[in-house]
Amino acid sequence: MTFSLPDSPAKDDLLAGRPTLWLNTGPRCAGITDSSLPIRSTQVAEAETNWQRLAPLLQSIFPQLEALGGRIRSELIEADKLRHALGYSAPDYGRIFIKADGDLPVAGSIKARGGIYEVFMFAVRLGQESGLLDKDGDLLALASESARALFGQYAIAVGSTGNLGLSVGIAARSLGFKAVVHMSTDAKQWKVDRLIRMGAEVVRHKSDYTAAVDHARNNAAADPAIYFVDDERSELLFFGYSAAAQELAAQLTEAGVVVDAGRPLFVYLPCGIGGAPGGVAYGLKAIFGDAVHCFFVEPVQSPCAMVQMMSGSDELVSVYDVGLTNRTEADGMAVARMSSFVAKVMKPLLSGILTVEDDDLFCWLWQAHFCQGLQLEPSATASFAGPSFIVNSHQGQAYLTAHGLVDKSALAAHVLWTTGGAFVPQEQFDSFLKRGASLARVQA
Ligand SMILES: Cc1ncc(COP(=O)(O)O)c(C=O)c1O
Repeated sequence: MTFSLPDSPAKDDLLAGRPTLWLNTGPRCAGITDSSLPIRSTQVAEAETNWQRLAPLLQSIFPQLEALGGRIRSELIEADKLRHALGYSAPDYGRIFIKADGDLPVAGSIKARGGIYEVFMFAVRLGQESGLLDKDGDLLALASESARALFGQYAIAVGSTGNLGLSVGIAARSLGFKAVVHMSTDAKQWKVDRLIRMGAEVVRHKSDYTAAVDHARNNAAADPAIYFVDDERSELLFFGYSAAAQELAAQLTEAGVVVDAGRPLFVYLPCGIGGAPGGVAYGLKAIFGDAVHCFFVEPVQSPCAMVQMMSGSDELVSVYDVGLTNRTEADGMAVARMSSFVAKVMKPLLSGILTVEDDDLFCWLWQAHFCQGLQLEPSATASFAGPSFIVNSHQGQAYLTAHGLVDKSALAAHVLWTTGGAFVPQEQFDSFLKRGASLARVQA
C-alpha cells in the first residue's frame, strides 16, 4: 500500500520516529450515546453487572482474589515520590496518580480485565447452552467436575504479543479448557515458558502480531471445538476492560478528586492493538463525558493508532506503510496495525496520541521501582510521558487552549495507567533495571 499522511504538526516527528503528540481535531460525537458508534454505552454497565456475578466463581477458582471480593482490580496510587523524579514537581501538574494494573491479580497485566472476562463469559454461555446452568443460576456450578468435563471438549485460542495470551491461557486452563496461544515474534520467552508450564499449547510465529492473529483466527474458523478470542474484533474483551472505569471513578472519589469541566481528568493509556486502552477510555467517557481527556501512548516505531487516526482513512493503515519498523522492546505495544473496530469507536472520542522512545521506557521503569516500589515491564511505563506533553509542549498548550483549560492545569488530575509487570521473572526484571539505571544516570 502506498500512502501519504495529511499535513499535521506531528507528522514530521511521527515519520522520523521522534516522540510527539498528535491531537485529534476531527469531528467529535455528542458523547458515547452517539448512534453512529457500533456499540452502546449500556454495555459498560452490563459488563460491570457480569463481573459482579462472576466474582464468587472467580474467588473460588483464584484464592488470591479473596481479599478483593472476587474482583480483578488494582490500586490507585498517588505518585508523590515518582512525580519529582519525572520532573512533575510543579503545581502546574495538578495531582498525579498511578493506576497499578501492572499488579493485577491472576494475570499480572491489564489484559486480565479483558482475557479473563471473555473466557469466563464463554464458559457461562456454554454452561447455559448445555443445561448445566439456568439463566440466572449460581455460576459456582461452572467450577464443578461436570463443567470441567464439558469445557475439556473445547479449546480456547488466541493470538498475542504475550500478555493477552497469558491471561486467556490462565483463565482457560483454570476452568479445564484446552488453551492454544499463538505468539508473535516479539513475545518474551518467559511468557511462553509460563504458559507451557500451565499446560497451554504455544505456537510461536516468526511473524508479527497481525500475522499471528490472522493465523490463529483461520485455524479456529476451521474447527467448531475452538473458541477464538479475537483481540482485533472482540466486543467482550473491550467491555471487560471498560469496567475498570467504574473502579477508577470510585478510587478518585475516595482520594478526594472531583472531575468536572473546570477540574479535568487526563488519562494516559499504553496502546497496542487498542482494545485495552479503548475499552477503558470508552468506560471513562461513559462516566465523565467531556471532563475526561483520554490519550493513547505508543512506541515511536509502533504508533499504529497514531498512523491510523492521523490518516483519517476508513481502511486500515500500518506503521510499515509509512516506513516505520514496528521494532520495540515494549512487546505489549509491538503492533503494526490497530483494530478497525477500536479505531471506529475511538475516532470521535480520543483526545490524542503520544509516542515515546524505548530508552525512556527503561529509565522510567527504574525510577518507578526506586521511587515508588513498582515492578513494571517496559510497555507499562509509556504513560509517564503524558503530563509533560500536555503541560510543556506546544501541542499540549494548544489542546489546553482549545478546551479552555489553560488556567486549570493546577486543578487537573493525571492518571498514568501502568499496564503490566508483576509476573516478570526476577532475572529479567534485573536486566530491565540495569538498562534503566544506566540511562537514568546519563539523563541526570
Ligand atoms: C503491558 C501491556 N500494555 C499495554 C498493552 C496494549 O493493549 P492493547 O493491545 O489492547 O492495546 C498490552 C497488550 O498486550 C500490554 O501487554
